Amino acid sequence: MEKIFSGIQPSGTLTLGNYLGAIKQFVALQNDYECYFCIVDEHAITVPQDRLKLRQNIRSLAALYLASGIDPEKATLFIQSEVPAHTQLGWMLQSIGYVGELERMTQYKDKSKGKEAVSTALLTYPALMAADILLYQTNVVPVGDDQKQHLELTRDLAERFNNRFNDIFTIPEIRIPKVGARIMSLQDPTKKMSKSDENEKGFISMLDNPKKIEKKIKSAVTDSDGIVKYDKENKPGVSNLLTIYSSCTGESIESLEAKYEGKGYGEFKQGVADAVVGLLQPIQEKYAVLVESDNLDDILDNGAEKASFVANKTVAKAKKAMGLGRVTKRK
Ligand code: TYM
Repeated sequence: MEKIFSGIQPSGTLTLGNYLGAIKQFVALQNDYECYFCIVDEHAITVPQDRLKLRQNIRSLAALYLASGIDPEKATLFIQSEVPAHTQLGWMLQSIGYVGELERMTQYKDKSKGKEAVSTALLTYPALMAADILLYQTNVVPVGDDQKQHLELTRDLAERFNNRFNDIFTIPEIRIPKVGARIMSLQDPTKKMSKSDENEKGFISMLDNPKKIEKKIKSAVTDSDGIVKYDKENKPGVSNLLTIYSSCTGESIESLEAKYEGKGYGEFKQGVADAVVGLLQPIQEKYAVLVESDNLDDILDNGAEKASFVANKTVAKAKKAMGLGRVTKRK
């Protein structure tokens, strides 16, 4: 069976963008692939975090994965820092990565821009991400559009390692959804929707209540045309709302355009809000139970154990290929 790996940072409550770009795909793919889904807490500490909040966010993310439909019987769900193989292979891959290629990552440039103290790990982050993926001999990595560059670097590092040492890594393919790969901010539709946005009105959190969701969508930036039509260049706000609507309900963008022909933005926005609430409310109800249950701990313990078993084998091969450890005289 082909393998899938993907991860999400527990750096705040997930947004609708994370759901539509990533989790929605994960749920659909878990029936056909051997899946590993990870809470990448070691990635989160590349920027300062409040330790108590971080621990809460890690648990909350695990509960959100499950509430969204990840089935622990089918997929392995685990926390990155509970599987030491990730940082072990991450270090090995750092030693074959080049500072120049890491400095070219747009995410690094964005996150370090204007900052006085930038952590070393923010720069070397893509090597850890490559390790996450390569440890499981992953064939396919489902992600949103913003992870493309990191995926290309992962492939480069894997090929470099295979050529220089021994052919041990599978070269992974990226998989980006056709609709919803890049959900934009509700306040600035030229910027990606992000959980770290300072303006809370720019994003919908997966745990926002219906009233809040409706309010945020009603105040979303559009234009003065009054026409519900998909045109990313000239109507980025309306196009983003159409994408959200289509992605939440499965209805095509063309059919939504037809449905709202001749109708104003008020009615359209109400439709978008209803679609988002309809999607998130059942997830939120399941979440409330899961986040308090000790079953969640059992699932994560099991996940870490299963992931470690697979990952440790890859680390052993990579160590040997690179010449780490000692020559043994034992027969
Ligand atoms: P992160 O935590 O920023 O985002 C998690 C996933 O959500 C997708 N995403 C979006 N999709 C559509 N529209 C948006 N506005 C939006 N915002 C986020 C992201 O593309 C991602 O799929 N580096 C990764 C985490 C990571 C990882 C990995 C992913 C670490 N190791 C290995 C895949 C494989 C990140 O920061 O994602």
